Amino acid sequence: MIEFEDVGLRYGDGPEILKDLSFRIDPGSFHFLTGPSGAGKTSLLRLLLLSLKPTRGRISMFGEDVMRLNQDRLLQMRRHIGIVFQEFRLLDHLTTFENVALPLRVLGQNEADYRDNVRELLNWVGLGDRIDAHPPLLSGGEKQRAAIARAVIGRPDILLADEPTGNVDPELSERLVHLFAELNRMGTTIIIATHELHLLKKFRLPQMLLDQGKLTFND
Ligand SMILES: Nc1ncnc2c1ncn2[C@@H]1O[C@H](COP(=O)(O)OP(=O)(O)OP(=O)(O)O)[C@@H](O)[C@H]1O
Ligand SMILES: [Mg+2]
Repeated sequence: MIEFEDVGLRYGDGPEILKDLSFRIDPGSFHFLTGPSGAGKTSLLRLLLLSLKPTRGRISMFGEDVMRLNQDRLLQMRRHIGIVFQEFRLLDHLTTFENVALPLRVLGQNEADYRDNVRELLNWVGLGDRIDAHPPLLSGGEKQRAAIARAVIGRPDILLADEPTGNVDPELSERLVHLFAELNRMGTTIIIATHELHLLKKFRLPQMLLDQGKLTFND
């Protein structure tokens, strides 16, 4: 479902950050993406999110060459991809409920149709009692769970998460990975960028390792 062929990436005329990436990621798989700071994890996630184009090579997703997509098709495809940003990117003037419901509102759905789903998901991530709170009143872990709920509410085929457990204690970060695993069991393809050794040890998922521009798999 995701295929990279000899992909390279550089920003402007800087050095090549990602070199000769060739790999396939099967639907329904679950990987950790690791590598030292500056190795290019966020850049690789941005390529997968279709918010950045490679400098060379070919990327295909859902069977289509992403370089050939027009803007409409690109936006359509992105609706099938959920992302949890490292810095959450919740909107402070909206409540937790409204933040999580936003992707559905953008699709033109009516609140009456999605209200129960959003509430159910918020209960599931343990935010049932924070539904009407605004992000500035949430703890780091609560914001993180709200960002995760927003990323999955549209039932994405692919879920990308950039250090989604970076700001919570080890116990909560393990709970969050269990939550991702639950989604994965329902069929979502997942890639989580993380540095956290305790997670890598505990979950023993296949790993994508980025180092000096090269990507290796450790299945
Ligand atoms: N918009 C940009 N313009 C120019 N260079 C960039 C840009 N974004 C990232 N870089 C550079 O690309 C390299 C990879 O950065 P990236 O953020 O992808 O790494 P990372 O593995 O996510 O790091 P971290 O673990 O610190 O989050 C770094 O050298 C960074 O300085
Ligand atoms: Mg990063």
